[in-house]
Amino acid sequence: MTHRVVVLLSGSGSNFAAIATAARAGDLPIDLMAAVSDRPAAFGLERARTLGIDAIAVSPKDYPDRSTHDRALISAIDQYDPDLVICAGYMRIFTAELVHHYAGRMLNIHPSLLPAYKGLNTHRRALDDGAPKHGCTVHYVTEELDGGPLVGQAEVPVLPGDTEDTLANRVHRAEHQLYPEMIGWHASGRLRLVSGIVHLDGAALLEPVRRSYKNAQD
Ligand code: GRF
Repeated sequence: MTHRVVVLLSGSGSNFAAIATAARAGDLPIDLMAAVSDRPAAFGLERARTLGIDAIAVSPKDYPDRSTHDRALISAIDQYDPDLVICAGYMRIFTAELVHHYAGRMLNIHPSLLPAYKGLNTHRRALDDGAPKHGCTVHYVTEELDGGPLVGQAEVPVLPGDTEDTLANRVHRAEHQLYPEMIGWHASGRLRLVSGIVHLDGAALLEPVRRSYKNAQD
């Protein structure tokens, strides 16, 4: 059975596009039901429309507070009865209510090797620190911002002369491979969150799976 998936995004949606491409190629056992955004003008929604996937905006401007907005978000998502909700550059902090509602069935990708550089401006901070390596992490979403149980990481080098843009591009190349792979594991039942602990193939994962992608090394 294919997995019903809803994607949340706020921006360009390049991760969404990579997931959609893998799904269309038959490489992922998922049905991409909809892209939902807090920003009506998000390019990711445009990408969804082009692909013939439902595109929905739930703008915080239309709601009096965070909890009402997140309830509207839950309604928008739940009309698709998803097995999995994927955050792909969704730039708002969720209420505890929403996080609990999707406990164990919500993944996020973060542009750093967590627990390093939680929050924003991760590429800038890695460069400022002179970090030799950087990357991205897929994790389950919990109430702790960028702090949920880790599933997988892909490392990229920080190269001499890197700018925020060149480093971000390299991380993006890794993200576009890591995220579909981890989503595929969840969809095929290999990956589960059991009592707050990530399990892969029935065994507790003590450390995130580490991946290295050739085309994200230069
Ligand atoms: C990615 O770097 C992801 O790690 C972060 O937001 C960015 C989204 O990029 N959470 P895109 O919209 O998928 O291009």
